[in-house]
Amino acid sequence: ATTTKGRPMTRPVPVPHGLPMKRDAGPFAPPRQITRLREARPVSPLVFPDGHEGWLVTGYDAVRQVMADTRFSSRQDIGVLHVPYETPGMPAATEPSPQVPGLFIAMDPPDHTRLRGRLTGAFTVRRMKQLEERITEITERQLDELTRLTPPVDLVKEFALPVPSLVICELLGVPYADRENFQVNSARFLVKDQTLDEKMAAYGAMTAYLAELVTGKRAEPGEDILSDLASQDDLTIEELTGAAFLLLLAGHETTANMLGLGTFALLEHPQQSAELRADPDLLPGAVEELMRYLSVADIFYRYATEDIELGGETIEMGSTVVISLLAANHDSRRFDDAGILDIHREARGHLSFGHGVHQCLGQQLARIEMRAGFEGLLRRFPDLQLAVPASDVKLRTDMNIYGVHELPVTGLSVGES
Ligand code: HEM
Repeated sequence: ATTTKGRPMTRPVPVPHGLPMKRDAGPFAPPRQITRLREARPVSPLVFPDGHEGWLVTGYDAVRQVMADTRFSSRQDIGVLHVPYETPGMPAATEPSPQVPGLFIAMDPPDHTRLRGRLTGAFTVRRMKQLEERITEITERQLDELTRLTPPVDLVKEFALPVPSLVICELLGVPYADRENFQVNSARFLVKDQTLDEKMAAYGAMTAYLAELVTGKRAEPGEDILSDLASQDDLTIEELTGAAFLLLLAGHETTANMLGLGTFALLEHPQQSAELRADPDLLPGAVEELMRYLSVADIFYRYATEDIELGGETIEMGSTVVISLLAANHDSRRFDDAGILDIHREARGHLSFGHGVHQCLGQQLARIEMRAGFEGLLRRFPDLQLAVPASDVKLRTDMNIYGVHELPVTGLSVGES
């Protein structure tokens, strides 16, 4: 029996411009419509731009439940490569999408388990702790670079993007000198209103490059994660390429945007920045809170493989289910004064790294990079400030991962060590 019976039927919410919606309530807050929806109906029917209906989940408990339940397949979301409404006129999917070899973020157990299992050893808390010194070194060198530039300096181009890019390249064994290929193509790939053809072109360019790279590593392994993977004979070149693509994309785009948007948020909250400067022990908590508050990776897709009860609604088998991590992280039923950035709150339990079997593989790495990045910026540049009015900062409303396109700053020469 459908439990929508007996409650006032609201009409499915149209999302004519797709998701994520524009953050129209300020640079950090969730879109107004999303907030209204979470209060009215946290599990709500929606209509995709192509007219087919699905579900939008915005409440904390329900979002967490979706991610914990593998009956909600990940095969609907080929890791931002393909979402159902990008093929106008196509009927709604009636079965999970075909799998892209190696792209385990878009797989279900047991295929997902088999591939992810090859990588967990390389990303344990212990392994990441061992890397901490090297990450700090990379960060400090990039901070040195900043002092040599003439202000105003774009902190995205000169710091937020290079640091995670350098780190993931070193870990994976991807030559940083080739960054033109993967930085440009990952950026193209994440443009929201991209046609499927354009997306496929960016994907094709990146995977052609990576296929050659992993083939080389199979023949002549180095000391890096991709070489370790390539030396496992039962993995095909296609699988290695797909996994390399996922790690490279996830490894620099997400963290880069957290560093860029996070710095913007800190500059907009000078009192809390001052506290962090005075007491760096507050940093780990502040990073969790920034992750919660900003939720740069917001929208993820699932596919119901059977009829499933969720938040008093019945999600019918075959439905596309969209979850908003941003909405969940701003749910006042879970976090008091959720709309306020508060570095002292207990933000753990936020869903910004996901939850369940797909929970972010790189989360310890990301945490170390963010702690080193924010700590370094605050320590070295006490006079760091925006070089433009906050309202002029270019927000990534056109991208699938949110953040700032540019962050022009001054105050990079004082406090030099
Ligand atoms: C998965 C967020 C950094 C690699 C995920 C998921 C989220 C996420 C929400 C779950 C996706 C889902 O359930 O469908 C973030 C954020 C980051 C970050 C916000 C930075 C602040 C990284 C880094 C790496 C990484 C540095 C480097 C390797 C991955 C991979 C998966 C993943 C491989 C797929 C895991 C799986 O399917 O089992 N990430 N991530 N992420 N992340 Fe991250």
